[in-house]
Amino acid sequence: MPDLSKITTIEDLRVIAQRRVPRMFYDYADSGSWTEGTYRANESDFQKIKFRQRVAVNMEGRSTRSTMVGQEVSMPVAIAPTGLTGMQHADGEILGARAAKAFGIPFTLSTMSICSLEDIAENTDRHPFWFQLYVMRDREFIERLIERAKAANVSALQLTLDLQILGQRHKDIKNGLTAPPKMTLANMIDLATKPQWCLGMLGTKRRTFGNIAGHARGVKDLSSLSSWTAEQFDPTLSWADVEWIKKLWGGKLILKGIMDVEDARLAAASGADALIVSNHGGRQLDGAPSSIEALPAIAEAVGNEIEVWMDGGIRSGQDVLKARALGARGTLIGRSFLYGLGAFGQAGVERALQIIQRELDLSMAFCGRTQIDQVESSILLPGTF
Ligand SMILES: Cc1cc2nc3c(=O)[nH]c(=O)nc-3n(C[C@H](O)[C@H](O)[C@H](O)COP(=O)(O)O)c2cc1C
Repeated sequence: MPDLSKITTIEDLRVIAQRRVPRMFYDYADSGSWTEGTYRANESDFQKIKFRQRVAVNMEGRSTRSTMVGQEVSMPVAIAPTGLTGMQHADGEILGARAAKAFGIPFTLSTMSICSLEDIAENTDRHPFWFQLYVMRDREFIERLIERAKAANVSALQLTLDLQILGQRHKDIKNGLTAPPKMTLANMIDLATKPQWCLGMLGTKRRTFGNIAGHARGVKDLSSLSSWTAEQFDPTLSWADVEWIKKLWGGKLILKGIMDVEDARLAAASGADALIVSNHGGRQLDGAPSSIEALPAIAEAVGNEIEVWMDGGIRSGQDVLKARALGARGTLIGRSFLYGLGAFGQAGVERALQIIQRELDLSMAFCGRTQIDQVESSILLPGTF
């Protein structure tokens, strides 16, 4: 067990992950589309928001506990769905789900994960987790996937609406991203400097898209799998499909990727339980506003009808507190989770969660609040948000 006491920020974890994770997968996580302007703004826009410091308020008996779609959480943070997580670290999704379970927060498995729905269920004693769905053209495959999610004890479904087509990330093209990596000379040289990662990968059988391989018709080997996924994301996705998925699933439904008030109204009208203000971590429409900038208007418009959450740029507990103050009942973390995982596996994810929770708890107290459910925009300095 590594001594992580000197790891005090998500940035510490990022630096170590960059040393340990093969370049093509590190770059896959640490990048946005085109100029990466939206990706950067997701983080930097948090810095502009200032707190009101309050003093001589009783700070005893504090709690960051809350609920997200009715589920108890130790803090209003869930692990966001991220594709290829089992390439950041061997069995990465299982480790992430175990860390989330230990911490008392939800873990979301991506459709494009390396470990499958069944792998997560088997390796977490069937602890409930969340599943993120991409709608594919092959609707029978989607029906089967939803059945598998139910059988795996999935307790909420996140339907991602902002990836009918894929934004362009220059690094992924230049690196020739594949899972597992192709054995080119450049990759072999890089892998030679990442021995721990290689050992981990040799010790697992999970090296490709676990939810898809062996389950989708016509997908027998990796090359046909990559062309299958490129062809299969459905560009015709519409609100009628949202209704179809809602019926098929029948449980808690979360709509992910809402950035506009008009879309937020449609999301609320769809009868979903929550929406996530998200620009996919700056990976889709570069030039869109940051998530924290888009949040207040959406929370104001529909916050009484549907739970409003947000993700994008959260690298600290202070970011969670600011999002909460601006109307996000819940938040999700993508890269903060991936950096912890890439750096130290499950222990790294747990460390990332501890860092965020401790900072959330202390900052909340400095703002004169003891319960996360008492946090609203009056903790922020007017004119800074
Ligand atoms: C490497 C990576 C892979 C991702 N894969 C998915 C995915 O498969 N499905 C999805 O809905 N969102 C995906 N996302 C978006 C995240 O769910 C989330 O919206 C985003 O990471 C939040 O921003 P943050 O990384 O700054 O916290 C991915 C993000 C990253 C960084």
